Amino acid sequence: MAQLVIALDVPESESALSLARELSEFTPWCKVGMELFTLAGPPLLIELKALGCNVFLDLKFYDIPHTVGRAALAAAAMGVDLLTLHCQGGARMCKTAREALADNPARPLLFGVTALTSFMPGEMPGIEAAPADFALSLAKRAFHWGLDGVVCSGLDAARIKKSCPELLCLCPGIRPAGAAADDQCRIVTPAEAVRAGADFLVVGRPVVQAHSPLAAAREILREMA
Ligand code: C5P
Repeated sequence: MAQLVIALDVPESESALSLARELSEFTPWCKVGMELFTLAGPPLLIELKALGCNVFLDLKFYDIPHTVGRAALAAAAMGVDLLTLHCQGGARMCKTAREALADNPARPLLFGVTALTSFMPGEMPGIEAAPADFALSLAKRAFHWGLDGVVCSGLDAARIKKSCPELLCLCPGIRPAGAAADDQCRIVTPAEAVRAGADFLVVGRPVVQAHSPLAAAREILREMA
């Protein structure tokens, strides 16, 4: 059964905590991204954990293997449940992060970003392949490097699942029918993502900026079911 993850893309702790409190009735998963973590840092993660949330720290690490390995350990020490790094960091970077977490039975799940859902075909610098083919090729590598899953468009999830059934697929770029795409490009509806085999659906603006985030989340869950 696919899980809904709410991207807490708000500029301060109080709104993030009140959203998480309100939405925890529907889903335990929330995502803290670059803006919120830069502003609110580890104390917010501790408060979200205290609320009973599953915390997805979406900092998309991309650096030398040693630095990323140490950062993965730091995230694990904060009780993070799911963590992202860029598959484009390559085999050594991804394997170093995975090995850094190996001895931790309560380690975060490690997900590799394939092609950002905001990329239009032809927009990825220096990459000739279509986003769907590039995502599949990185997903196959991520599986061999020992990652738990990949971040991919719902448009790519079915092909990835067919090729690597054990690899979890986490899909941003989710838009209910008729919702604004914003800066996202390779989007699918909640129902399409579930049909494609997505394990996690990440939704930000369609919930967070809705007049009633609660009603918007409820409607997405209804469509997922
Ligand atoms: O508002 P929206 O639903 O587009 O938010 C999507 C969230 O997922 C954002 O927090 C964004 O940073 C994140 N994300 C993404 N594409 C990726 C990885 C993460 O949109 N490939």
